Amino acid sequence: MHIAMVGAGYVGLVSGACFSEFGFEVTCIDHDTGKIKELQQGRLPIYEPDLENLVHRNQKSRRLSFTTDLQNAVKKADVIFIAVGTPERRGSGHADLRFIYDAAKQIAHCMGGYKIIVTKSTVPIGTGKKIKEIIKKIRPSIKFDIVSNPEFLREGSAINDFMRPDRVIIGVETEEAYQFMCQLYRPLYLRETPIVRTSLESAEIIKYASNSFLAMKVTFINQISDLCEKVGANVQDVAKGIGLDGRIGQKFLHAGPGFGGSCFPKDTKAFIRTAKEYKTPQLLVEATIKINQNRKVNMAARIIKIAGPRLKGKKIAILGLTFKPNTDDVRESIALTILPALHKKGAKLFVFDPYGMAEMKKHINYVTYCDHAYETMKQADLLVILTEWNEFRALNLSKIKKLLHNPVIIDLRNIYNPIDMQKFGFSYYSLGRKA
Ligand code: UDX
Repeated sequence: MHIAMVGAGYVGLVSGACFSEFGFEVTCIDHDTGKIKELQQGRLPIYEPDLENLVHRNQKSRRLSFTTDLQNAVKKADVIFIAVGTPERRGSGHADLRFIYDAAKQIAHCMGGYKIIVTKSTVPIGTGKKIKEIIKKIRPSIKFDIVSNPEFLREGSAINDFMRPDRVIIGVETEEAYQFMCQLYRPLYLRETPIVRTSLESAEIIKYASNSFLAMKVTFINQISDLCEKVGANVQDVAKGIGLDGRIGQKFLHAGPGFGGSCFPKDTKAFIRTAKEYKTPQLLVEATIKINQNRKVNMAARIIKIAGPRLKGKKIAILGLTFKPNTDDVRESIALTILPALHKKGAKLFVFDPYGMAEMKKHINYVTYCDHAYETMKQADLLVILTEWNEFRALNLSKIKKLLHNPVIIDLRNIYNPIDMQKFGFSYYSLGRKA
């Protein structure tokens, strides 16, 4: 069985590498010649734990290859995945489907016989049917099937999410395509992973509804966290207490500075746009987006308030730039709100992130990028933790105390215990817990 994966971005690369690990022959196609050249030499454009090993292993065994030649890859493929980006159209909230439709057209022109065309990218409801129309118009006499097979890969644990998913969603129109897709996911089937067969539209909604629900869950606990601060409760205890109810579940109840990343912000916006078009506004999701945007701004205000009115010339140490740990992705990260706000007030910023600094340098050039965590802290007036990287969880507190000019720590990920911090003599501020 041969797979063509159109788009060697995050989703295409992870999915392609994982399918080749299942034993299939996979060709990843991208129009970016530079990226493909790098990949052919085993160099990856993104950081994702274990991905490099997986790619190298399967490249070596010739099950995984990279090319810019879509025509040849499509010709020999039984199934073609579309995994190109669907960025937000400038400020509109709409997903930009240009790349998807371009891919569909190119695939249509190259098809020699029956093919299964699968959307992996997150696409608005109705996109599967539109792809079908596009292909039919170009190749009216060739038989093909369209499938919607959304991904649920989290950055930082994408390989595990692919290999051990909670479920696989297969939106199909024919039995033939469904049986084919089941064969592709056979290794998971043997592990008794539930396979959910739906229509194209249901599969498309499932993806948006899942991400919107999770974004809403995070936002819910963030609001509860604010209340906890006011009444002297502890948000971690509250999260545990409600999460142990099986109907609610414990995951995605960590209070934080507001969600970021490449998916939640974009997908929630695209979802409410589509819902409005169909005149069924999703008010909970609309509120989630607003609350999250406000929260990020409030986090900056909170830091400024704790740091005191005269920030000009003050030195602030910042740990964590990525939107979450184990990724180099800084898209919509809280750092992108906090750094400009503190800079505007005249603070001098010394920052460190294990993998996110190269990406952040593309956006921000007015901070000092340090080589390790402790280097940010020398004579700093304040230390702020923005991302919960493991290496920040076990820092040497005595050393920090000696390095800081003022022993003040603001922890927006609740990675330290307030009582320990008090013992060490820090003024410690976290979320939803007593200062
Ligand atoms: C998400 C979805 O989880 C995944 O299924 C989807 O396909 C792609 O989008 P990802 O964006 O990689 O994955 O990160 P995720 O782990 O979901 O976190 C998103 C944001 O929510 C991060 O900013 C994270 O810090 C925040 N978050 C998450 C919290 O603040 N608290 C939580 O309890 C969980």
